[in-house]
Amino acid sequence: MSEPSARRTEPFKAPVGTRDVLPPESARWEALVASFATHVGDAGYGLVQSPMFEEFAVFARVGEGTDVVRKEMYDFLDKGDRHLALRPEGTASVVRAFVQHRPPVPWKVWYAAPSFRYERPQAGRFRQHHQLGVEALGSADPDLDVEVIVLLADFYRHLGLQQVELVINSMGTAEDRRRYVDDIRSYLVGIIGDLDPADAEKVEAHPLRVLDSKRPVTIAATADAPRITEQLSPEAAEHFERVQAGLGALGVAFRIEPRLVRGLDYYTHTTFEFVSGALDAAQSAIGGGGRYDGLVESLGGPSTPGIGFGTGIERVLLSCDAEGVFAGADPSVDVFVVDTTAGDAARDLSVELRRAGLAADRAFDARSMKSQMKAADRSGATLVVIVGPDETAAGTVTIREMTGDRVQHTTPRAEMVTHVRSLLGRPT
Ligand code: HAM
Repeated sequence: MSEPSARRTEPFKAPVGTRDVLPPESARWEALVASFATHVGDAGYGLVQSPMFEEFAVFARVGEGTDVVRKEMYDFLDKGDRHLALRPEGTASVVRAFVQHRPPVPWKVWYAAPSFRYERPQAGRFRQHHQLGVEALGSADPDLDVEVIVLLADFYRHLGLQQVELVINSMGTAEDRRRYVDDIRSYLVGIIGDLDPADAEKVEAHPLRVLDSKRPVTIAATADAPRITEQLSPEAAEHFERVQAGLGALGVAFRIEPRLVRGLDYYTHTTFEFVSGALDAAQSAIGGGGRYDGLVESLGGPSTPGIGFGTGIERVLLSCDAEGVFAGADPSVDVFVVDTTAGDAARDLSVELRRAGLAADRAFDARSMKSQMKAADRSGATLVVIVGPDETAAGTVTIREMTGDRVQHTTPRAEMVTHVRSLLGRPT
């Protein structure tokens, strides 16, 4: 139970597994989302905003046998006794919205969505993480798989990431998948004593998960397990071949990994993951996705194929750090207004500059000239507009260049914006 707040002496902190993103880091975050929005917008994907919580049953459909649903859901009864859950991932919400609104297909959408999983927090693994993702519904064409995978590969490339490996697999048709799950379950039951106990307990409910276990004992014990890629129906094999041909044609390197089953139940046909070689194994999966041709039906919609991906903002930024790329936007302003008269100048000139489309800031609390100049330095401003008693009396401002020899210019106040613009190399 929570203690009464009146008795609390410790300062409050963000809950375990969550974090605040503050300036200047947040500018980079914003730039990442903006760059993604442009990248996928240019490919015909429109933004979907869906609620951060849904009926529990919506998410239960993404996998009753998965850790995400069984162990990690933030579910609760609301004041009206409805069983709700915070979104653990983006796909189920988007598919629920598709079923509810029935937009024309193909329906190509993207999202930037906070997602919640009650996991054991560690570097790159949070209880609230943020996914950038796309979903494309209404086409079973393998070239759509190629479009979606290449979109994400090109996004990473555009950020400057080079140590990212694409791993792909096929889960086959829904029928192939069902048959394979039965096969693999029988196989695993036969070797259950050799598995790591944490994996052995998954054999009944979600045998596929055992295959992509990272535990060495399990990896060794399942080395000879039947491979789905050897059991695909001709239809699924043809689909998978077309995907590989497309990636090849577009120069996107990949490795086929028959153990890649992914952590959600809805996948059919193509699954894929992007793994960063610059991060530790526990957080190296920076993005992943696949086809989910039965999910719309399972949420009560008409039979509609779909495919998408999600990529974690935190993990993408961690891999950018590790590779020393995508430093992010420069939060510097163009102009800082220093007013030593404690009059109206700072208030009025900073707004005048902003209304003219320039980035401007100022100090408050009538600080000393020295303190205001320090603030101007911190702001990274290219120019400082100084107003002291002399300038006020003369109806002028002094513009100081903050680079090179710090040249100063005196200019009539009415011409400040024009002069600033020309010094910035941005005349109207
Ligand atoms: P996922 O692989 O579970 O797939 O998550 C996608 C990405 O979200 C991961 O690659 C990782 O970058 C990030 N992520 C997941 N969990 C965490 C966490 N606890 N902390 C930090 N980052 C995390 C999905 O969620 C699917 N909805 C992807 C998809 C879209 N499939 C089809 N369409």
